[in-house]
Amino acid sequence: DKPIYILAIESSCDDTAAAVLKNGKVLSNIVARQSVHEEYGGVVPELASRAHQQNIVPVIDVALKKAGITRNELNAIAFTQGPGLMGSLLVGSSFAKSMALALGIPLIAVNHMQAHILAHFIEEEGFDKPDFPFLAMTISGGHTQIVKVNSYFDMEVIGETTDDAVGEAFDKSAKILGLPYPGGPLIDKYAQEGNPKAFPFTKPKVDGLNFSFSGLKTQILYFVQKKVAENPDFIEENRNDICASIQYTIINILMDKLKAAVKETGINQVAIGGGVSANSGIRNTLKEAEKKYGWKSFIPKFEYTTDNAAMIGIVGYHKYLEGTFNDVTVTSKARISL
Ligand code: KG4
Ligand code: ZN
Repeated sequence: DKPIYILAIESSCDDTAAAVLKNGKVLSNIVARQSVHEEYGGVVPELASRAHQQNIVPVIDVALKKAGITRNELNAIAFTQGPGLMGSLLVGSSFAKSMALALGIPLIAVNHMQAHILAHFIEEEGFDKPDFPFLAMTISGGHTQIVKVNSYFDMEVIGETTDDAVGEAFDKSAKILGLPYPGGPLIDKYAQEGNPKAFPFTKPKVDGLNFSFSGLKTQILYFVQKKVAENPDFIEENRNDICASIQYTIINILMDKLKAAVKETGINQVAIGGGVSANSGIRNTLKEAEKKYGWKSFIPKFEYTTDNAAMIGIVGYHKYLEGTFNDVTVTSKARISL
């Protein structure tokens, strides 16, 4: 059998990424992170699309070079259709379209949130793939969902956030503490040295399998303001404990709903995906759940958690095998459901 080479392009937010996969195995996975947003405390869409335009050609060149193939050997080009920032998505889709047209190979549009879930199907030594059906919790800067995954392309959202995404909860909490954007990884770092029970925050009461994080953010803001009024050095003196307490509360919120989802569906294979699944506390808690609750948990390799093109490539590969292609009239979408 001839090998299938897929070039994947991801540009939904502030990372410009390209990957080459051979039969579902990653040959290269390149990400150019944009640092221009740090000083603004969040992603500035106009700056993001401009940086994508500067980065996309070199990122794709490096991905092909590192994979050791030329563009003429490619079988298809997969790209992120959405959800994401429109200006950012358009840079990736225009490039993918023109390249597929020029090479005369199929074009494959990929849903970014499906990709975070199907990242678990990348061929990777030492990593098991879940069996269908399984539960996936997608936790990122833009989404917080619990999804029942029946097959590659049959997914059902059974719970989701009613306001902020969990990544926003991390990033906004970090901002309150004066940490730069994105603050999630920094909270994780300081939390590892702190006492998670130092400052008890209350969990919101939300129906069913849904989530809410905006109340927690407000609670943290008022708590920090009050403490700083009493002692201007409060944050500096307690940074590790504050971060550990915030992270502990967020993990508890996620685990409560995940436990409820396992109970409700009777499915005990649990996978996580999205940027926040890089969090060491969540990774440890989910590993422990194997022994504690008898779950089988699936935790992606670090580089496949935050936005990357390898996950777009694995979806592209499975669509290629199914023969699901798009023509150049396919449009980018800021919002799409699973
Ligand atoms: O999936 P992703 O790269 O982009 C979106 O599609 O949103 O997720 C980015 C989010 C940010 O909110 C970032 O703070 C968070 O993932 N994040 C983390 C960690 N690493 C990234 N949050 C907590 N702990 C981490 N180690
Ligand atoms: Zn993402």
